[in-house]
Amino acid sequence: MKAILLAGGKGTRLRPLTIHTPKPVVPIFDRAFLHYQIELLKQVPDIDEVILSLNYQPRKIEEVFGDGAGTGVRVRYVVEPSPLGTGGAIRYAAQGITDTLVVFNGDVMTSVDVNAVVAQHRERNAKATIVLTPVDNPSAYGLVETEADGRVRRFLEKPNPDEITCNTINAGIYVLEPDTFDRIPKDLSYSIERAYFPSLIERRETFVAYVDRGYWIDIGTPEKYVQVHRDMFEGKFAGGLFRTADRTRPIVSPDARIEDGVTISGPCFIDAGVHVKAGATIGGYTVLGRGVMIEESADLQDTIVWPNSRIGQHAVVHGPIIGRNCHIGRDAVLEGRSLLGDRTQLTDFTSIGS
Ligand code: GDD
Ligand code: MG
Repeated sequence: MKAILLAGGKGTRLRPLTIHTPKPVVPIFDRAFLHYQIELLKQVPDIDEVILSLNYQPRKIEEVFGDGAGTGVRVRYVVEPSPLGTGGAIRYAAQGITDTLVVFNGDVMTSVDVNAVVAQHRERNAKATIVLTPVDNPSAYGLVETEADGRVRRFLEKPNPDEITCNTINAGIYVLEPDTFDRIPKDLSYSIERAYFPSLIERRETFVAYVDRGYWIDIGTPEKYVQVHRDMFEGKFAGGLFRTADRTRPIVSPDARIEDGVTISGPCFIDAGVHVKAGATIGGYTVLGRGVMIEESADLQDTIVWPNSRIGQHAVVHGPIIGRNCHIGRDAVLEGRSLLGDRTQLTDFTSIGS
């Protein structure tokens, strides 16, 4: 069985972070996001290949996963000539595949039991199975109404407030039978949410929901991107390094260099090659990516710093997400949730949000 990960979107809501780093490979702690999805799919013994459906900056994604050797599963890439939408991308990536397919939106972090979803799909002899998750406000998602027997009654992408009739939404995880793909036009943009799912309902095909109440988040906005780090620090989701790390203490790589007189408090993560100089404070919910340099007496809290950035002496940095290879000058003050794209340079004494 093969899995297709839809990883071709532009990640516009995470700009400027996604200008040089496509959303599927934004770092979550020490690894690229899709590693977590591949880790989950490896729990399905039937899956022998993961196909990444790409469009935006495909080389950057291929560089991370190669042929998949480092992940333990074969990884293959299908690059669309132009963005085909979610449905078009699935058909394009599924060429030649006749067997049942698992499909993931390439931006959802979840603990769903994919084996159980596939088992239910087979038991119900479904044409399509969709995982649903409850959320407080469905308006940013695909709203899915179900019948008592679990069949999908209605699918409504991005409902208006007056159209919200339930709290279950499309989690972006499907099991599909490729013999239904002939209705998807070739070489045209086509949405699985707005066209394919409604067509299954119209034709009364067996389209069944699997409601999952475990961990689920779409990492596609800055708030959610920060939230997933917070949730992992707090033990709400235990993927990647949190499968083994003791999260009751700061997680510091043995290959980081922490000088004497540094204060490290609260849940935080310090990756390999980081250098924290004397007098600095690394506070709660801070994540320092590989090779980050924190100069003397800098004060960080609730801040995510991508690899190879540098924070100057006495800088006070509370809340931003800082891209790669940035330099925050000495005595700068950054308060609140700002987003700094790769290679941002902030002059000494810059003050933002304070
Ligand atoms: N290959 C390819 N080509 N991938 C695409 C394309 C495309 O043209 N367009 C989008 N994608 C990928 C994105 O990279 C992302 O991983 C996934 O498809 C979904 O696109 P988003 O842009 O993130 O959609 P969304 O978050 O607004 O809504 C979708 O996800 C929700 C759950 O997070 C929908 O599927 C909703 O129904 C769902 O509730
Ligand atoms: Mg999304």
